[in-house]
Amino acid sequence: MPSLRFFLLVTLLAAIVLAVPAPIRKRGLQKRSFKVPRQLNTAHPTGPNGYAAMRKVFRKYNFKVKEDFMVKEGFISQSKQDLNATSTAAATTNQTGAVAANPEQNAALFLSPVDVGGQTLNLDFDSGSSDLWVFSTELDPQVIGKHAAFDASKSATFKKTAGSQFKVNYGDGSGASGIVGTDTVTIGGVKVEGQTVELANKVSQSFVEDTNTDGLVGLAFSSLNTVNDGTKKTPQKTFFDNVMKDLDLPVFTADLDPDGTGVYEFGKIDATKFEGQMAWVPVKAETGFWQFASTKFSVGDQTFDNPQGSDAIADTGTSLLIVDQQVADAYYSQVKGAQLNQQVGGFVYPCAATLPDISVAVGDSYMAKIPGSQITFATVDDANTTCFGGVQGNQGAGLQIFGDTMFKAQLVAFNGGNQSLGFGQKPLAQ
Ligand SMILES: *[C@@H]1O[C@H](CO)[C@@H](O)[C@H](O)[C@H]1NC(C)=O
Ligand SMILES: *[C@@H]1O[C@H](CO)[C@@H](O)[C@H](O)[C@H]1NC(C)=O
Ligand SMILES: *[C@@H]1O[C@H](CO)[C@@H](O)[C@H](O)[C@H]1NC(C)=O
Ligand SMILES: *[C@@H]1O[C@H](CO)[C@@H](O)[C@H](O)[C@H]1NC(C)=O
Repeated sequence: MPSLRFFLLVTLLAAIVLAVPAPIRKRGLQKRSFKVPRQLNTAHPTGPNGYAAMRKVFRKYNFKVKEDFMVKEGFISQSKQDLNATSTAAATTNQTGAVAANPEQNAALFLSPVDVGGQTLNLDFDSGSSDLWVFSTELDPQVIGKHAAFDASKSATFKKTAGSQFKVNYGDGSGASGIVGTDTVTIGGVKVEGQTVELANKVSQSFVEDTNTDGLVGLAFSSLNTVNDGTKKTPQKTFFDNVMKDLDLPVFTADLDPDGTGVYEFGKIDATKFEGQMAWVPVKAETGFWQFASTKFSVGDQTFDNPQGSDAIADTGTSLLIVDQQVADAYYSQVKGAQLNQQVGGFVYPCAATLPDISVAVGDSYMAKIPGSQITFATVDDANTTCFGGVQGNQGAGLQIFGDTMFKAQLVAFNGGNQSLGFGQKPLAQ
């Protein structure tokens, strides 16, 4: 029979246990989930632009533009121009000067605030790459222009990693390179100390021209990180990899509104944002991307097998849903008046057309549906009578890129714990 003394002892022990501080966490990491807004880039010159969006994703993934597909004055000359601009970007003060007067339309549409060593930068959260790089005062002031640029000498917490470098190439000429260090990075109020931060001392022209994007937060797998120590690759951990262990769930979600603004949430899946159960699909993490098979699609009620279908990746850094060309062809064959427009770089149709729903397979077990009412990406003329589709073909590139068009219709959870993607159908916005 337990004595009073025993009872007291147990009580005392319990009190001692309660008094023991919780396991020490890094300062600021008590929070187990957090949100960060994804805001419209107010400096964006024109709002959504189909041609620019198409060019950006083709360039990022080094997709070849078919000469017979896109005529000279459309796609091709533009991307070649950019390619040439790259090597000389840091020195092209004249091109930089021209920018203010004639801003490029290739800018990131949406940005999120990130604090690096006490300095706030507007960064593009990109699940299609793995470097956290920023404009820095290592760059020529004329290249920095109106960008916020990280000044390492003003951060008490920055430590340079001697000898290390980075070089990201987003395909056909666009990219950045520079030096490497670590600093305290705070996103949504959650701090990671010792986060690898890459300081650009060279950026390609398209980043120079995108005056409000101060860099990227790569959210693909750390294996794709481009840091090297001068002789060999030494991939550094992404922000997500560093913060993952301190989260309630090892996930982040992209929750986009129909206008493309929205929230990235880390550590939590908000079940009020989608209907029914979340469907989980393992990804091929060994590719470094959030990559999966996609060998089926539906247009309206009709489902098609696409056994030769390319793998697809989930990319928050891309505006469009880029599918295999035959999928895009099949879809637009069901849209009255749709045509492939070479000047604009993709499928356009009368804005008054009724668009069928499209569903694309995610792995073997899930079809991600995008309602017809959410397909249109932009208008292409001043009268708003011709529209540019948010679904476009990859011209046989061999990879499908599922971007914002999908994230507006699907709540997608990126699970770094078991390397899978969760999909939930969002209710149709009224
Ligand atoms: C790019 O540079 C190459 C070699 O310097 C030149 O031959 C070519 O004409 C340039 N292309 C454009 C579009 O400026
Ligand atoms: C920039 O262009 C102007 C006029 O075209 C020229 O006078 C000037 O030398 C150029 N500057 C550089 C750095 O090339
Ligand atoms: C991954 O984790 C989620 C939630 O934590 C779970 O529901 C899902 O079944 C897992 N997926 C795979 C492919 O293991
Ligand atoms: C076309 O759409 C834009 C953006 O929604 C709007 O500002 C403009 O007034 C529209 N033009 C016409 C002619 O309706």
